[in-house]
Amino acid sequence: MVAALIRGKPDAVLGLATGSSPMPLYEALGAENLDLGRVRGFSLDEYLGLGSTHKHSYAQVIRREVVDRLGLAPALIHTPDGEAADGALEAAGFEDRIRAAGGIDLQVLGIGSNGHLAFNEPPSAFTSRTRVVELADSTRADNARFFDSLEDVPTHAITQGLATIFEARHLLLIAHGHRKAEAVARAIEGPVTEQFPASMIQLHPNVTVILDEAAASKL
Ligand code: GLP
Repeated sequence: MVAALIRGKPDAVLGLATGSSPMPLYEALGAENLDLGRVRGFSLDEYLGLGSTHKHSYAQVIRREVVDRLGLAPALIHTPDGEAADGALEAAGFEDRIRAAGGIDLQVLGIGSNGHLAFNEPPSAFTSRTRVVELADSTRADNARFFDSLEDVPTHAITQGLATIFEARHLLLIAHGHRKAEAVARAIEGPVTEQFPASMIQLHPNVTVILDEAAASKL
């Protein structure tokens, strides 16, 4: 689907997720023999306090796993600046850049085990836009595996809001493993509620969910 989008629109605007879930997608995209030099991209989120050169920053993850791997043009890929002096200003500027690009064609999404999308922790308003948020303890614990210790995981982040994500023309949610099964079932079959942000996908007109059997086991 992603390759087909780019074949039809070489300057497509992708919403890029980090985390482990989308990595096989990025690998597979690399095997498609596409010219991705005009693809534009916006990351979902960034840790607050980690600069774009910090090895655990999402800017670096996107740089390594997406931009360098796939030959994207670095100048066309945007990640919120986790070291911005004014987080609210950075968030508003990020929204402006998405708007100026004409919106996101396809937003790649993982799902947090607590039902978060990007870093929209429960509860998050469906009307929320890009902003600074505090991370849930469970999210910091989940993501500690990428850091040396739990203490090293930042406490705050800048994240696209749920309304920002919802405006993407196509949502592509990817989840693997038993650890995600409960969250996937609640997102797809549970009540639509801001208490469980991923349930918002039920309201979107164009959503694709890709699961392995383990992640689908509670549907
Ligand atoms: C992280 C990211 C999310 C991601 C999620 C799942 O905290 N902020 O955007 O989707 O958690 O991560 P993983 O795919 O590694 O399970």
